[in-house]
Order: sequence, then structure tokens, then C-alpha cells
Amino acid sequence: MATLEANTATLPPGPRLPPIVQTILFLVARRQLHRHLRNRYGETFTTRIAGDRLVVTLTRPEHVREVFAGSPTVFHAGEGNAILRPVMGKHSLLITDEDEHLRARKLLMPAFNGAALRGYGDLMAELAATDAERWPTGRAFPTHPRMNAVTLEIILRVVFGMGEGPRLAELRPRLRRISDIGPLTVLGWSYPNLRRFGRWKANFENLHRVDELLYEEIADRKQAGDLADRGDVLSRLLTAGGGELSDQELRDQMITLLLAGHETTATALAWSFHELARRPDIQRRAQQAADDGDEDYLQAVAKEAMRKRPVIQNVARMLTEPTAIAGYRLPAGTIVGPSISLVHSDARLHDDPQDFRPDRFIGKQPEAGTWIPFGGGVRRCIGAGFSLQEAAAVLRAVLTRYTLRPDRMKPEFPKPRNITLTPARGGRVIATPR
Ligand code: HEM
Repeated sequence: MATLEANTATLPPGPRLPPIVQTILFLVARRQLHRHLRNRYGETFTTRIAGDRLVVTLTRPEHVREVFAGSPTVFHAGEGNAILRPVMGKHSLLITDEDEHLRARKLLMPAFNGAALRGYGDLMAELAATDAERWPTGRAFPTHPRMNAVTLEIILRVVFGMGEGPRLAELRPRLRRISDIGPLTVLGWSYPNLRRFGRWKANFENLHRVDELLYEEIADRKQAGDLADRGDVLSRLLTAGGGELSDQELRDQMITLLLAGHETTATALAWSFHELARRPDIQRRAQQAADDGDEDYLQAVAKEAMRKRPVIQNVARMLTEPTAIAGYRLPAGTIVGPSISLVHSDARLHDDPQDFRPDRFIGKQPEAGTWIPFGGGVRRCIGAGFSLQEAAAVLRAVLTRYTLRPDRMKPEFPKPRNITLTPARGGRVIATPR
């Protein structure tokens, strides 16, 4: 493990503040902190976080590509994501590395390929329309909580294939509570001692009850006679080669998909509405696309929202051996983190980066390492296609019905919420029926 005693001469420059201070600064103000550090120390800089970890942040696309193309035995994403382990579990796709990761990824992939996604299309459109029909009109409201509810519903149905009933009714608010936490509560994930107190205790008690409910669902599903006919991820895992998965492995993959798969897309949607409301010209173009069923343009709106307003600030890989990156020889144990935010806002890579311009994604692919909202390489987000399809379905349901304007022109700033960056006032808009 790279510790503070490591040979710091080999490291990129960075601040000397105590790790706990740097951790808190990161959790509370990661965007401002990283922008400041880039301006002060240059394109590659080192910070130190809880557990005496060294984190080297990368902002150049060629360095990002080095990380994403790196060997999975050297670049451990699972260890890089260790902060999520107390919630996701040790078998989670996000937390495992090498053989265990590859095996889990192979089992889960079929549920996210093109054919599977087409199968989820009608359900996504139906749930998106049910919500859009109920949007309040003529008054400002925050879109983010609504989007959280819609995307949670979609993921619960797709991942679990769960029917209505008391278990689902209890699970819904409890799952929301797991992710409905600010930076201070997230600190309890890194410092187990905190879990005996107040908000941290409540957070882990809630997680424990969610586990009980998930195990009950897994036990019931194993008894279901129609597994082969069901399209949901849990049933697929129980049939297609997944028979050998333990209940704990199933629980860990399920909770990972539920948590990684809903708030992220909800946040991208809230930012999409935030941007569209402030750009009537682009909104009109998007409404036209919604009316015409032009999925490419609607996906381009979501992609551009994810570029301008990254949902997740950076990805992480832990080095298992000394490795040369960005011209430095970094010790084993260092975490290397391509910065999504700093790459996406670099004017050398994106013309006029503050401008919201979905056309950037029409008829062209961004150059490798310049648009990385879903990370990359063998660890690229397994739900990338799923979330873009879902985002387009929700945008279509809303934009065919309403015209949006902001309650204030001043943009909302990104606020840390669990591991995401959400609009500080919830992405407030005023909807008017078209
Ligand atoms: C806008 C929506 C989303 C964003 C911005 C997002 C972002 C990310 C990022 C940055 C990573 C890490 C990639 C890396 O380390 O290179 C990731 C991984 C992952 N995401 Fe997503 N994600 C989204 C939606 C989803 C959805 C809908 C699902 C599932 C239904 C999902 C499930 C996962 C899983 C399981 C991983 C771990 C993959 C692995 O390590 O092999 N995500 N996501």
C-alpha cells in the first residue's frame, strides 16, 4: 500500500494538508477543490485521503487512455472503489477485481446487451409516461426527486422484476434512504467507528433491513416456477449459469445495480431539464425530436448534459505494482483517478465547454478519453446503454407534453450527494402544457 512514507519524490505535486482534511474537502467541495488543485499544481496532481491513501488525479486524455487500457491485474478498479464496499458488499461488480470481477461481469452482461435493452423499452416508456402525466404545471418544482422515483421504479422492475406488494412498498423508501445522504454521512463508510452513532447508525440499520428484504425476495424467487420466462436480471442470474451464485453474491449484485443504476440516471435527467429550461432554442429542437421519435437527438441531449454537468466527478483504479503513468513512476497502492469533471470542462478538448450543445454528439463520436461520464476500459459502466435509453424515454415523455422554463435564470451549482453531483436546488423548472 502507498502510504505517506512512500517516496514522494516520484509523485506529482499536491497539497500537504492532513489526509482527514483533504478527505472532508473532497467530500464537501470536490469540484472546487480539484479545479483549484489543477490551477495550482498542474495537469496531474496528488492528494491524500482517509486511510493514508495517495490519489493521483489525471486530466489529460492521453493519460486517461493509459489508465483505461491498462491491465486489469495492475489497475484494480474494485480496490479503487473500496469506499462503496460497506454498502455494495464484497462480491459487488464494482468492488471485485480480476477473476471474480470477470466472472460476475460475464454473468451480468447479457442483461445489458442490445437485445435485452430492446426488451426493456416498453416498460421504460410506460413508467416514464405515467410519471410525466402527473407533472405539476404552472409552478416551480424540483425535478431531481421525481426523477429518482421514476428511475428507481424502472430499475426495481427491470433488475428484480418485483411485483407490487408490502415488500416492494417497504423497500422503495428504504432504498431511497440509502442514497439520500450528504457528504458527512458518507464519511461513515470510511470510518466504521462512526457507525455506532446517530445518523451513521441509522444509515446502517436501514441497510441491514434492506438486506433482509432482498434475501426474502431471493428466497421466494428461487421457488418461482416461471424463472425461464421472466426477463428480469435476478431471474436471469438464477437460471443462466448463475445457479452457482450464493445468496450473498446475488444480494451484492442486486444492490449494486439498484444503487448504481437509478440515482445516476436521475441526476443526468435533472441536469438535462436544468439545461433545456435555460436554452429555449435547444429545447424546441428537442421537442421536435421527441415528437418525431428521434432517439439519437434525445440521447445527445443526455450525453451533453453528462458532459457539461458530470454526475460522477472521477473514476478510480488502485495500482497493484509500481507503474509508469503520465511520466511519473507511481508506487503500488496509489489510486489513479481520471477526472471526469476536469476533462469535460477543458476548452482544448471541447469547444466553448460552458455552452450546452447536444450537436456535439450528432453524427460524431468524441475522441477517446475526452468524454468519459461512464469511465472506460474493462470497467466501463455496464449500464451506459441502459441509462441513455432510459434518459431518452423520459425526455420524450416530458418534452412531448410540456415546455420548461427555469424559476431563476441563475444556474444551480453542483452539490455532492452520496457519490453524485446533483443540482443544488433539485433542478427546479416550471412546466407548461404544450
Ligand atoms: C447517467 C447514468 C450513469 C452514470 C453517469 C454512470 C457512471 C458510472 C461510472 C463512472 C462507473 C465507473 C466506471 C469505471 O471505473 O471506469 C460506473 C460503473 C458501473 N455502473 Fe454506472 N453509471 C450510470 C448508470 C448506470 C446504470 C443504469 C447501471 C445499472 C443498471 C449502472 C451500473 C454500474 C455498474 C454495475 C458499474 C461497475 C462496472 C464494473 O466495474 O465492471 N450504472 N458507472
